Amino acid sequence: MKKQPIGIFDSGIGGLTVFKEIRKQFPQEDIIYFGDTARVPYGPKSPQTVLNYSVQNARFLLQNGAKIIVVACNTSASVALQKLREILPIPIIGVIQPGAAHATSVTQNGKIGIIGTEGTIRSDAYSHAIKNIDPKIQVFSKACPLLVSLVEEGWEEHQISELIIREYLQDLQQQDIDTLVLGCTHYPILKKAIGKIVGKNIKLVDSAEAVAANLKEMLPNPETETDGSNKFYVSDNEDKFRQIATRILNREIEPLHRVTLGESWFVE
Ligand code: DGL
Repeated sequence: MKKQPIGIFDSGIGGLTVFKEIRKQFPQEDIIYFGDTARVPYGPKSPQTVLNYSVQNARFLLQNGAKIIVVACNTSASVALQKLREILPIPIIGVIQPGAAHATSVTQNGKIGIIGTEGTIRSDAYSHAIKNIDPKIQVFSKACPLLVSLVEEGWEEHQISELIIREYLQDLQQQDIDTLVLGCTHYPILKKAIGKIVGKNIKLVDSAEAVAANLKEMLPNPETETDGSNKFYVSDNEDKFRQIATRILNREIEPLHRVTLGESWFVE
């Protein structure tokens, strides 16, 4: 029987933080990754536009044989998960539910901060997911739109990033939160800089590990002993993707292809 890959998509390189964890925990699985680098960022775009892009991305992965799709983009997951589950014949996993569940288990004082793109924060998806688990938990949210661009620029060590993160987080820090959810898959790349600013008393939660654990429950053990393959696709700018992705994953990004997604895949 032909091995079918796990499909992962994001608006750009952020989903590689999820790829990395899945690759670590599922060494024998084939993985196909799509980064929508032509249309990044998704954060400031309308829910309908993000939904359309997400459906296109997921259909592309399905057409390329994916047996399961991981929506490694919080902005997509916050608006498109339900639709994707309705229209696609394979299981779909998002990042929000696993991240919310993990944050709920980590907090000691019941005060959780969420940072994400404008779209994710506007959707209130994390707040709903957390309150569903424990209605007593207080949630404080902050949209941090510039952080995605800093990561896409490769500026995770740059002093400008530190200034911007400091500015974004100051309101949340005043709320006595003890847990901060990195509610955008780009943000774990800034984890060191964020950790330096918030200090050791605030635990940082990134959903990548929780997503991989979730996946474990859904995938039977593969019958092969051989290492799984990787395939990377982007919708633009493959050289820049290769350069940043190589640094993030510390491995060769091959094979990498550019694709144009069909307009007919838009949903009404
Ligand atoms: N990495 C994404 C997320 O988790 C999207 C960032 C963007 O495209 O704005 O939300």
